[in-house]
Amino acid sequence: MTYPDRVTITESSSRDGLQSLGAFVPTEAKAGLIDDLATAGLKSFDAVSFVSPKWVPQMADGAEVIAAVHSDGPRLIGLVPNMQGLENAVAAGLTDVAVLAAASDTFSQRNINASVDEAMHRIRRIVLEGPVDLTYRAYVSTATHCPYEGEQDPDWVAHLAETLVEWGVEEVFLGETIGMATPAHVGRLLDEVLGLVPVDRVGVHFHDTYGQAVANTVVALERGIDKMDASAGGLGGCPYAPGATGNVATEDLLWLLDGLGIKHGVDLAAVAEVAQRFCLDHDLTYNSRAGKAASAASPSSG
Ligand code: HMG
Ligand code: MG
Repeated sequence: MTYPDRVTITESSSRDGLQSLGAFVPTEAKAGLIDDLATAGLKSFDAVSFVSPKWVPQMADGAEVIAAVHSDGPRLIGLVPNMQGLENAVAAGLTDVAVLAAASDTFSQRNINASVDEAMHRIRRIVLEGPVDLTYRAYVSTATHCPYEGEQDPDWVAHLAETLVEWGVEEVFLGETIGMATPAHVGRLLDEVLGLVPVDRVGVHFHDTYGQAVANTVVALERGIDKMDASAGGLGGCPYAPGATGNVATEDLLWLLDGLGIKHGVDLAAVAEVAQRFCLDHDLTYNSRAGKAASAASPSSG
């Protein structure tokens, strides 16, 4: 087991971080968050969703957010749950999209009104019929635990991941949607998934509800995974996973990576400053322990 030399962090705060909030965050503030985090060194963003505004009102302005981002160069990914979402993402000028699979039928049904089987067929259609120059990421949500059905079978998740890669999905992200998994669960899951899918096609998306996300990230790094999502200030959750909190805080992940000597190209203090200001402006709780500690150690940065 050797750690990767460098990892790519995809910043999820503007999408996963905001999607469950009641009060609508204005378009300019969402785009500003992406711009400011890009200035802090982040180069890949789980930026917006193209989902039904009736289901997730907070994400109703996906196209406008993309148009309002000033930064040149960061990879902007749009979440698409179906063909209509794909068309809207393409019309917004995106070339990177994320499609939604899940291990659990109940979660999939509540999240996108489709069984796992139906969701997989939607993805197949999207990849087959979508423009050829698109890059596809697929999430397999509830990869270890479902809020409705409990623990999931790693074999089943590995089978879904393998199928998605066979269909032409470049990256499969294992979504630990509700943040219950411990390193033991993640180890068992990765043993199965990496038995079927090359490590360079696998990423992880850990929520931190039970405080296990950093420990779980170490397990992923030990297995050579170099792609991971995180959310500045630990913002986030899923509207269809009650009680789940945000992703691993970007700042906490950066502190871990620095300690392990793994390169990432991101400025922890700058991320903390951006996220703290954003939380203050929008009356949100700032949830990064490393960010709080770094700001306390050098108050001028936060
Ligand atoms: P549905 O009701 O079955 O859709 O919802 P439908 O096809 O029957 O259409 C009904 C209406 O929705 C129609 O409008 C469509 O035009 C519209 P009407 O004729 O009634 O005016 N519609 C759309 N509008 C905008 N964009 C679209 C779209 N599709 C249909 N793409 C649907 C199905 C998937 C749309 C719905 O269930 C939905 O939007 N779900 C939201 C899912 C979501 O955003 N969940 C949170 C993100 S997933 C997540 O957070 C997990 C992740 O972080 C990983 C992890 O943590 O594990 C990624
Ligand atoms: Mg999530």
